[in-house]
Amino acid sequence: MAASTHENNRRILVTNALPYANGPIHIGHLLGYIQADIWVRFQRLYGNECHFVCADDAHGTPIMLKAQQLGIAPEDMIADMNAAHQRDFADFSVSFDNYYSTHSPENQELANLIYTRLREAGHIHTRTIEQLFDPEKEMFLPDRFVKGECPDCGAEDQYGDNCDVCGATYSPVDLKNPRSAVSGAVPELRESEHYFFDLPAFGDMLKAWTRSGSLQSEMANKLSEWFEQGLQQWDISRDKPYFGFEIPDAPGKYFYVWLDAPIGYMSSFKNYCDKRDDLNFGDFWDKDSNAEVYHFIGKDIIYFHSLFWPAMLSGADFRQPTSVWAHGFITVNGTKMSKSKGTFIMARTYLEHLDPEYLRYYFAAKLSSRIDDLDLNLTDFAQRVNSDLVGKVVNIASRCAGFISKKFDGMLSDRIDDPAMLADFQAAAKDIAQAYETREFSRAMREIMKLADRANEYIAVKEPWQLAKQEGKTQEVQDVCSMGIHLFRLLMIYLTPVVPKLANDSQAFLNDTFTWESAQTTLTGHKINKFKALMQRVPTEKIESMLEASKENNTAATSKPVSSSKTDIEPIAAEIEFDDFANVDLRVAKIVNAEHVEGADKLIKLTLDIGSEQRQVFAGLKSAYKPEDLIGQLTVMVANLKPRKMRFGMSEGMVLAAGPGGKEIYILNPHDGAQPGQRVM
Ligand code: 2FM
Ligand code: ZN
Repeated sequence: MAASTHENNRRILVTNALPYANGPIHIGHLLGYIQADIWVRFQRLYGNECHFVCADDAHGTPIMLKAQQLGIAPEDMIADMNAAHQRDFADFSVSFDNYYSTHSPENQELANLIYTRLREAGHIHTRTIEQLFDPEKEMFLPDRFVKGECPDCGAEDQYGDNCDVCGATYSPVDLKNPRSAVSGAVPELRESEHYFFDLPAFGDMLKAWTRSGSLQSEMANKLSEWFEQGLQQWDISRDKPYFGFEIPDAPGKYFYVWLDAPIGYMSSFKNYCDKRDDLNFGDFWDKDSNAEVYHFIGKDIIYFHSLFWPAMLSGADFRQPTSVWAHGFITVNGTKMSKSKGTFIMARTYLEHLDPEYLRYYFAAKLSSRIDDLDLNLTDFAQRVNSDLVGKVVNIASRCAGFISKKFDGMLSDRIDDPAMLADFQAAAKDIAQAYETREFSRAMREIMKLADRANEYIAVKEPWQLAKQEGKTQEVQDVCSMGIHLFRLLMIYLTPVVPKLANDSQAFLNDTFTWESAQTTLTGHKINKFKALMQRVPTEKIESMLEASKENNTAATSKPVSSSKTDIEPIAAEIEFDDFANVDLRVAKIVNAEHVEGADKLIKLTLDIGSEQRQVFAGLKSAYKPEDLIGQLTVMVANLKPRKMRFGMSEGMVLAAGPGGKEIYILNPHDGAQPGQRVM
């Protein structure tokens, strides 16, 4: 019955933006990876050659400083993070063919090659610039590592590039009372020679690329705006100390992380080709390549991917991407992901509570080819998954399968009960494929669910459970239930790119292997396996516990963003003299009483005995301790801290505790032999 309805000889390489190696994957990241993965899985199912590569983005100042802060080598930190990222992606069924790192020999070689070609073609210039320098850390400071008062509104503690309070943008040298966020030192202005990539020389090339046809219209418009504003020279060097690749013939100068990051797309693919005999790097990246290359990215990094990247490739004699496809950001329950609300959800936290296929389906049901933001409304999420996947799709199989296995030993009927309906379901393959191809996933899901509604209507009308009770209807029962199974099968073929695990389990149940073309065949007279429950309804209490767990994660000691944000380093405070330390009077204290504080989320009121006197201290321990468990314990307190008036009363000191936060806060516990009032050094 199979009829070849489509061409499938395309050669495609897909990448997704490379996550930074200094923080875990969160659901905001996942939107892009899941979008790209659905597209890739569709291409493969359709029969096209489609490779999907990614890597960790391992270089740059934030990564260098984070490793220093953790007291480990950056190489060790990025290796751990790489493994964690790969686990998260695998558990969300993101089907990379290769996952690598930008800190790799292949990437260094390609970065050097591209840079050298650009330099030889006259596209690299040097110029001396002035930049803030941290005299204590002996390093130049990226804008986000300088803090001070906003030059416009005077707000304190603002970053060097823009003010969170009034929205002003400025240069870090304009900040009042600037401080290094790394050491706390007052930064100095110093000169240094920097290397620049001559982006303006590529104006015509970029305009031609923009017109090449496959860019999103929003992206093409953005590019036109940038062309009008005029392209700028791009600073591609950073001075040591820097975690990255040293620029050839320029000792002490390193490639800025954004130069070698996109080259990571090529080097991961190169690394993959080297493992496979049948793949040739040049077939995909040479200037005359007729393969297709697509980059899926977030809307915040369009500039890098639609200007610098195609220009670099062109200047270095490589092909340009066929297209760059941007997606929007996610909001949760209508607002930005928030730590206090528990909606800043890490991939791992999600996985500990919910089935990843739910999220894949929900994203698919809401994604289009446009750069719009997508709201993950958790009530809608549960309803949609329950009603569509469980209620409409899986339900068809569960209503029909029992009869087939019990009454017919798993054999499907030799005939199709409603050929016209089957033909409609098969004909839908074309539109659904078109929707996947153009990244109109929400349209694809709507079409599939319309078919699912029809399938359910068919079963509701035929009522096989009634037929089964009637004499002489045996054949009809088999025909109707087989028809139901056929319809279920087609729905599952069409859903395969979105819910691969469900599709795998369905193939096992149907004793079948799905391809896009196999929708044009039927399983008449075919034996299927016993049905096992394919998907559970979304357990709503798990959504609650996931949000709760996310709150805990995020009050962790590293309270800064754990994402692709520009900086998440909690700076080490300015150095102090020994005398400063000696001035802190630390004493062993016995907790003689502990009680809840009416109206306070985090505080416990402690009464501490330090031998000579008793102190009242409010401590943020509620997430980790019950008051009754604290009574009788010894701890360490700062005994000479100036008393502070708090909303609930005076706090006369502070107890010392450590840990990431949430349930994991541990008060310091001196040995049992310690006496209240003893000095601690
Ligand atoms: O914005 C980010 O998270 C970057 N790590 C993306 C890099 S994409 C590519 F260029 F490597
Ligand atoms: Zn301001």
